[in-house]
Amino acid sequence: MGYHIEEYLSAEKIAARVREIGANISKNYEGKEIVLLCVLKGSFMFFADLVREITVPLSVDFLTLSSYGAGTESSGKVQLVQESKMSLEGKHVIIVEDIVDSGNTLSFLLGLLKEKNLASLEICSLLSKPSRRVVDIPLNPEYIGFEIPDTFVVGYGLDYDQKYRELPYVGQVVFDEEE
Ligand code: IMP
Ligand code: MG
Repeated sequence: MGYHIEEYLSAEKIAARVREIGANISKNYEGKEIVLLCVLKGSFMFFADLVREITVPLSVDFLTLSSYGAGTESSGKVQLVQESKMSLEGKHVIIVEDIVDSGNTLSFLLGLLKEKNLASLEICSLLSKPSRRVVDIPLNPEYIGFEIPDTFVVGYGLDYDQKYRELPYVGQVVFDEEE
């Protein structure tokens, strides 16, 4: 099916919100050291921009999860493709995600981290689609960029079939009417 991409959140709008989230984290974690855990691949661009807006000392860590097949529907089966190598025990950890959709990915990740004796754990996500939630995930609105409706988005790290991650804005995939 044919489709095109329409800009949905401009680069400027995203940058302004990333600054606010960075300020919220800096304020809430004053005097603490944090570990920002980047969930690859989708959050790489948000992550790189976000760390530059945080003023408290931090370390970065990366892990790769995969839940999507090639389409716009999550397979529901989450896989740990590559685990973080850092010891997170006793650390204040913030998971940085691109988007919370069904919640399956985060529910899987929260399960993995539960056994690690963290000092604290929060979730930060650029986007959230509350209407799609299957598993309830506790989210702090101070760390959520934008709530969006049930629509498939790409760009600023997010992909459709591994494409469009490089777009500097978030775009909406609009499927063309069939003839
Ligand atoms: P969940 O497990 O259903 O919450 O989906 C989480 C993952 O699916 C996200 O981290 C994204 O990588 C991917 N995803 C969900 N919705 C979208 C979308 O609209 N565009 C691109 N990727 C998405
Ligand atoms: Mg993701």
